[in-house]
Amino acid sequence: MDVMEAIYNRRAVRAYTDQPVEKTAIEALINAAIQAPSSMNEQPWAFAVVQDQQQLARWSERIKTYVLRRLKPDSPLVKYRDMLASSDYHVFHRAGTLIIICSRPDTHNGAEDCSLAAQNLMLAACSMGLGTCPIGFARPWLSQARIKRSLGIPEAYAPVFPVVAGYPGGETPPVPRRAPEMLFRQ
Ligand SMILES: Cc1cc2nc3c(=O)[nH]c(=O)nc-3n(C[C@H](O)[C@H](O)[C@H](O)COP(=O)(O)O)c2cc1C
Repeated sequence: MDVMEAIYNRRAVRAYTDQPVEKTAIEALINAAIQAPSSMNEQPWAFAVVQDQQQLARWSERIKTYVLRRLKPDSPLVKYRDMLASSDYHVFHRAGTLIIICSRPDTHNGAEDCSLAAQNLMLAACSMGLGTCPIGFARPWLSQARIKRSLGIPEAYAPVFPVVAGYPGGETPPVPRRAPEMLFRQ
């Protein structure tokens, strides 16, 4: 698959089979991630990988409670209230693998760099027949000191981009894009 094919075929996949993602595939994804450009070549990324499906199911419940309890009336997440309150909703979409891309402290553009790494990872996954989905819902919960400690993430590191991966459990239709807003063209 060439890069344009991967760009156009990648989807936020929200249904997965039970087939586990092999360790070699995870390594390939992380190696693709770290080929991303980084500000001043700081390469600020670090990775935590969770492949315990039961743990992810437990975390999903805790994350839903955590997000709902902190939901302010003016939050853009209010529209997801019913979804998050539903016992059917799984924050990690029942994927068997969660990769948390974290930024080291004292870097200049850690969030941008880690997001570029995440896009590399998601495109590489697509080319390998794997589905991925960014899980922004999980970030505040994963950023708690005790959760980071349990994952070996140092206190000063920031989880920037949690993303699940797995073998897609069906087709995901494309989400249409609005035409690009062109502000200037010479
Ligand atoms: C920073 C970020 C956070 C996201 N968080 C979630 C999430 O928590 N759960 C989810 O199902 N999708 C999440 N998404 C996926 C978007 O909803 C998805 O990319 C968008 O609807 C477009 O669909 P597509 O990726 O299939 O083109 C997130 C995407 C980004 C970039």
